[in-house]
Amino acid sequence: MKKILITRKLIKESEDKATKTFDPIFNTNDELYSQSKVIQMSKGCDGILTSLTDKMDQETINNLPDTIKIISNFAVGFGNIDLEAAKKRGIAVTNTPEVLSDATAEIGILLILGACRRAAEGIESAREGGWKWSADYLIGKQLTGTRLGILGMGRIGQKIAKIARSLGMIIHYHNRSKLSDEKELGAVYHKDIKSLFSVSDVLSICCPATKETENMINKETVEFFPKGAVITNVARGDIVDDEALIDALNRRKIYAVGLDVYKNEPNLNPGYFKIKSAFILPHLGSATKDTRIAMANLAIDNINEFLKTGNCKNKVN
Ligand code: GLV
Repeated sequence: MKKILITRKLIKESEDKATKTFDPIFNTNDELYSQSKVIQMSKGCDGILTSLTDKMDQETINNLPDTIKIISNFAVGFGNIDLEAAKKRGIAVTNTPEVLSDATAEIGILLILGACRRAAEGIESAREGGWKWSADYLIGKQLTGTRLGILGMGRIGQKIAKIARSLGMIIHYHNRSKLSDEKELGAVYHKDIKSLFSVSDVLSICCPATKETENMINKETVEFFPKGAVITNVARGDIVDDEALIDALNRRKIYAVGLDVYKNEPNLNPGYFKIKSAFILPHLGSATKDTRIAMANLAIDNINEFLKTGNCKNKVN
């Protein structure tokens, strides 16, 4: 049986499947392994099942044992792994697309609702005994008739568009390429981000983090938005320059944010905590039992397929 290292504790059903498929090394205490511990523990293993909390940078990958043939990431995003370094060492990298689109889109919608309807302020006030009702208390932004800009119209973006449409939002989007009519469903395509941001009363960031999208929300681009726009991010923190966004929130150029992902997780920019209108979640995009089981199943199947056939449909490098 092939030996694999699973760097984080998985849901029981997933660990049972791993036991049936491989000779796995589990992390029973769900300890956050250092990079050197991952290297050391993967001795004699054929593959590693990583999570987005594992920084598989060039140095870590270069020091992995020669027996490692695959790094199977338990996530659709793979910004935590240096794909080129892995490729140079002949190590395949895989991800878990599709199975988490619905769960992540739900959180994307929650971010929009939470930010627009001032959920963070409402929860805080209700908990702290500051209960109050008045005709003008915690007035938020209604979504009906509001323009939603979607940055990255892949599977998650399209699902968010579908739900947002049912809430009466008008969909605009930017993507590397324009979608077909049946995928677009009437959404307005914008060739560049300036054009998209200028019509985005609410923005939903759904694109992968790449060299091209890094800090796409920055000092310059934040000015493209209508005054009082809302920015939400269900994708990756690297797409946002936090200082620029926090400054725009403080100036009320941006009315509110809904964020599930951050640069440098778990040490997000503390500036966000000082902003009352910031609706902040701790990277919960795929956090439902069914989705986490489906992701783990796929991550395990990816290793199995690759070790058996030398290829895998979810290979990303
Ligand atoms: C979660 O953020 C993922 O990329 O799967």
